[in-house]
Amino acid sequence: MAEQRERTFIMVKPDGVQRGLVGEIIQRFEKKGFKLVALKFTWPSEELLQNHYSDLASRPFFPGLVKYMSSGPVVPMVWEGLNVVKTGRQMLGATNPADSLPGTIRGDLCIQVGRNIIHGSDSVESANKEIGLWFTEKEVVGWTPAAENWVYE
Ligand code: RTP
Ligand code: MG
Repeated sequence: MAEQRERTFIMVKPDGVQRGLVGEIIQRFEKKGFKLVALKFTWPSEELLQNHYSDLASRPFFPGLVKYMSSGPVVPMVWEGLNVVKTGRQMLGATNPADSLPGTIRGDLCIQVGRNIIHGSDSVESANKEIGLWFTEKEVVGWTPAAENWVYE
C-alpha cells in the first residue's frame, strides 16, 4: 500500500497555460488513474525558479530557462500513485520534443525544448524537494478516491 502513495511534482509551464493546455494535461493524469493531491495557479518569482532548477544553475541555458519559467502563471500539482515518478516522466516524454514519442504529452503538444509545456520530477528525491518548495504540508491533501479499488487490485 505504501508504494501506492509515491508522489511526484508536475507543473504546467507558462506556455502550457497560455496555450490552454491545462485541462488536457490534468485529464491525462486523471484518466491514467493517478490521484491529484495538490494544485495551485500562481505566477512564480525568479528566486523560486532558481531554487527549483538549482541543479541546472551552471548550464548555459539556465538564465533563459528562469526567464521563460517566470514569464507568466504556471499550474504546479502533486500527483500520487504506484510508480508515479517514473510513469509520469514517461507520460511527459523526452525533454526535447523533437525526441518525444507520439502519445506522450510533449510528443503530442509541443515542438521546441525551450517551450516544452510541462515539468515532471526526475526522482523521488527531487519530487520531495520540489513538493516542499511549491506547497505547504497543509496544501497537500490526503484522500481516498471512490474508484480506488477499481484502479488497484
Ligand atoms: P523538466 O525538469 O522541466 O521536467 O525537464 P527535464 O527534466 O526533462 O529536463 P532538465 O534537464 O531538467 O531541463 C529542464 C528544462 O530546461 C530546458 N532546457 N533547455 N536549451 C537546452 O538545451 C535546454 N535543455 C533543457 C527545458 O525546458 C527543460 O525541460
Ligand atoms: Mg528536470
